[in-house]
Amino acid sequence: MSNEILNYDKVAEASLAKAQRDGAETMWDRRAAQKTQCGFGEAGVCCRICAMGPCRVSPVPGKGAERGICGANADTIVARNFARMVAGGTSAHSDHARDIVHAMHGAKAEGPFKIRDEAKLRRIAGEWGIEAADTKETYALAHELADMALQEFGKPFGTQRFLKRAPIARQELWERERIAPRAIDMEVTTLMHSTHMGCASDYESLFRRGMRTGLSDGWGGSMIGTEFSDIMYGTPSARPSSSNLGVIDAEMVNVLIHGHDPNLAEMVVLAAQNPEMVELAKAKGAKGINIVGMCCTGNEMTMRHGIKIAGNFYQQEMCIITGAIEAVVVDVQCIFPALPALAKTYHTRFISTSQKAKISGDMYIEFSEETGLENANEIIKIAVENFPNRDAAKVEIPDIKQDTMVGYSVEAIIDHLDAVVNSQLEDELGTVKPLTDVIYAGVLRGAAGVVGCNNPKQQHDYAHVKVMEELIKRDVICVVTGCAAQAAAKAGLLTLEAKDRCGRGLLEVCERVNIPPVLHMGSCVDISRILHIVNLCADVRGIDPALLPVVGIAPEWMSEKAVSIANYVVGSGINTYLGVIPQVLGSPNFTKLLTEDCQEFIGAHFVFEKDPIVMVDKIMEDMEEKRTALGI
Ligand code: SF4
Ligand code: FE2
Repeated sequence: MSNEILNYDKVAEASLAKAQRDGAETMWDRRAAQKTQCGFGEAGVCCRICAMGPCRVSPVPGKGAERGICGANADTIVARNFARMVAGGTSAHSDHARDIVHAMHGAKAEGPFKIRDEAKLRRIAGEWGIEAADTKETYALAHELADMALQEFGKPFGTQRFLKRAPIARQELWERERIAPRAIDMEVTTLMHSTHMGCASDYESLFRRGMRTGLSDGWGGSMIGTEFSDIMYGTPSARPSSSNLGVIDAEMVNVLIHGHDPNLAEMVVLAAQNPEMVELAKAKGAKGINIVGMCCTGNEMTMRHGIKIAGNFYQQEMCIITGAIEAVVVDVQCIFPALPALAKTYHTRFISTSQKAKISGDMYIEFSEETGLENANEIIKIAVENFPNRDAAKVEIPDIKQDTMVGYSVEAIIDHLDAVVNSQLEDELGTVKPLTDVIYAGVLRGAAGVVGCNNPKQQHDYAHVKVMEELIKRDVICVVTGCAAQAAAKAGLLTLEAKDRCGRGLLEVCERVNIPPVLHMGSCVDISRILHIVNLCADVRGIDPALLPVVGIAPEWMSEKAVSIANYVVGSGINTYLGVIPQVLGSPNFTKLLTEDCQEFIGAHFVFEKDPIVMVDKIMEDMEEKRTALGI
């Protein structure tokens, strides 16, 4: 079977051919069954917010119905649909974060949920104004901080605490434009209210309310998710890992962890180290237990433990099709509902674990913070006992994997910069100043955050990799998260050797600082790390982040979470380039608001560009304009 969307992927063709032989259905069969996708939906002009509808208005102004039954026009319908995507995305990231904070609320010294980065705990407690943050007993402090974090979701007054990390200029802009995000649940609820039938119809107002909600994700839920995961599971530091389907080991019990929340994955990794389980695996004829990761669970676990990355979003089915996975263990987000049926084509057990994402079709073992390790032990036992059921005739693991470096948290990046500064004894330690210095000096032309998913509207991984390859050639350093990071890993861009694919300036920086030109910063909630480092750079120079030559890019995005992210990145003053066009073109007014007009009041805007090379040309122009304006 050949598929032009997968041309770029060396393993895809064999994998899909095997699926066909095995009688397994994949996303490509289902995509073909969809035939032409709905033009109204694509343009964002289909409304089913009330039961007088669904109403669809013309995606081309002046042709066909211009209003729904209630009178809503294309601008209102598009803006409401877009805003509801933000609400969905914000709720997903933030609800994930809340689970992390709940685990921390119940953390105990005797574990398994415990405090592993005490320095970060004390730093954030101090940042949030907790008294005696330096001296309080660790767990009393952790519980107090967790309590405060839980208030960030529902407090009746005030705005998000982490907003104070932004430079004053940005904080003032948020206040002036009335988009400083309040409690996260409040923002989501209010936005759902505003987009209810018969509420807001003004598209600009809807956009601003959506952006405020998105900002409650980036500077609230996602940032809490990142920072509190670090406190409990350790702040990532640079380490080697490996990526692509070849990390699945034919001689081991293979457990695929897929989803987003590190609470479950951390327990599964702990359980797999249990000597009793390892012995059991050997008794069943395996050499041991091999945990491999996918999507953001994979990112969380590779960043902190070097767990191998089996692949990104579009490879979730291919993993099972290898016939060598004993169990797929999932929690929340980005999990195809198709997986249990696919697993049944092989011996694979599919285990869903979250009340919030119960996936029907195979097993359900409910995970809770109280019984986390017991749940994980049960899961590992099922996987190990399933090993003898593997059908050797169906095992075919593509012999392709790529070494990679991961683990570049903000702290890890600063450590690397310190190592250089230290040797020269001339500058302050513990800051991102050397990074801004090389950008200001023109050694680097700018920096780009490349993030997001895979989407069959783009050739898989191609858009990610092309954008990064072209940027590093042109001396733009890249930081990556999510499935974009895994695309980079598979393409060998996260290695020290990738410096040879860079322009001269970036090559010099990579050599001196001993880093790859593309830095893996973690999962999708860890885009908050990117926000943090950009804001630290702006702070060093005393300017608004909007003035820096930095961009956000999502070449192959697909989820509501990505819409929320794009909103908070633009809302933080960073121009954001989308390789998949959001469903807004049915309203030229709303489209213009996103791509041009919001620049005036936010200082940043969205750019839609499907062609990765043209996108990079636009980005370079954007960066050079910023450089000229800064006089650098
Ligand atoms: Fe139709 Fe208005 Fe109801 Fe939407 S809210 S379905 S446009 S009547
Ligand atoms: Fe993700």
